[in-house]
Amino acid sequence: MNYEEARKKMADIGQEHIFKYYDELDEAQKAALIQQVEDTDFSVLAKIDKGADGTRGTFAPLAAMQRPEIEAREKELYEAGVKTIKAGKTAALLLAGGMGTRLGSDNPKGMYDIGLTKHVYIFERIITNLLDVVKETDTWIRLFVMTSEKNHDATVTFLKEHDYFGYKEDRIVFFKQNMAPACDYNGKLYMEAKDRISTSPNGNAGWYSSMVRAGLDKILTDEGIEWIDIFAVDNVLQRICDPCFVGATVLADVSVGAKVVRKAAPDEKVGVMCLEDGRPSIVEYYELSEDMMNAKDENGEPAYNYGVILNYLFRTSELASVTDDRMPLHVVKKKIPYIDESGALVKPAEPNGFKFEQLVLDMIHQLSTCLPYEVIREHEFAPIKNPTGIDSVESARELLKQNGIEL
Ligand code: UTP
Repeated sequence: MNYEEARKKMADIGQEHIFKYYDELDEAQKAALIQQVEDTDFSVLAKIDKGADGTRGTFAPLAAMQRPEIEAREKELYEAGVKTIKAGKTAALLLAGGMGTRLGSDNPKGMYDIGLTKHVYIFERIITNLLDVVKETDTWIRLFVMTSEKNHDATVTFLKEHDYFGYKEDRIVFFKQNMAPACDYNGKLYMEAKDRISTSPNGNAGWYSSMVRAGLDKILTDEGIEWIDIFAVDNVLQRICDPCFVGATVLADVSVGAKVVRKAAPDEKVGVMCLEDGRPSIVEYYELSEDMMNAKDENGEPAYNYGVILNYLFRTSELASVTDDRMPLHVVKKKIPYIDESGALVKPAEPNGFKFEQLVLDMIHQLSTCLPYEVIREHEFAPIKNPTGIDSVESARELLKQNGIEL
């Protein structure tokens, strides 16, 4: 693409202002901006006025495998899981491409130190949890780490400096996720530098298409990986690729297993797993009708009772059927750094525009079957989203201590 073509592409969508500083740029910067114009999918900007999610289908309950069943079948589930892991059929994928804006650190979230008397980094907690399974099964599970262009170098350097917290370097593969443009409330693109349109990672559902773009689906095929455990960077208590969860998902013969926790109260403000038009899905708390809230399963328990914790075991052979254009695009208000009229970088304290994301839970709805698998909240769910308060460094420290982890 040359300058005239780039200018026309942007003029056609009313975004010519991105060339405001063009004449000040050197040749390399000019080329970089044109390249970004060529590479970026701006069609997302048209979604602002259309609303984020569209209409919903018909909901029905989706039964979870609950603790009593898991405990009664523990040996069977465990053995099936260990067998699958030992056969090299299970991989793990750490979603670390997010910006962690709520936590407010400039570094990747995984570099955050939650220790009190010693260093305890979020990445360290995650890798230590996975290492438990590596040791237990005597198998180096393939670990993929998804970063974004914003945090890739810092993430790779940090993990290398810390010797991957004991993980085997040649079992880790890093890749960058795709980016989406970011704009103000009127749909005008922000610039983050004179030669660069503001972008942000395109949401955690980007993991599969980004993996394919990086050619890494070949590793899945070549190594015979049949299951991949996708998990968030910020839940420092979660078990990853734990044999019982793997075994339960494999034996249930479903497209995906999803770790879930029981709602703390019927009116708790969390999305819960369900069926939507016969496919697995999530119904948000504000979409639960009175009838759904009161519905009971065959044991007399609430029928819509299990919230997801962003830890899913996907059957790899079904991933090719999940395509980005079939998933809803979420238009989210966020803080977007930008350059002002004078060209100085501004980091806003409050949301100032829209980012565009696709979410991993929307992938679930593309698949035909899902096993919600209950885990005990106090033992497996300590997400770190904020510095203090709910889902914070403070609340996670408390839960880690309760689970006997020294900080
Ligand atoms: P969150 O939804 O908490 O987003 O991500 P975030 O970007 O980390 O934090 P905020 O909202 O800016 O405060 C849940 C998980 O999905 C990953 C995150 O790294 C985290 O593990 N994620 C999110 C990605 O990998 N890519 C994305 O584009 C978004």
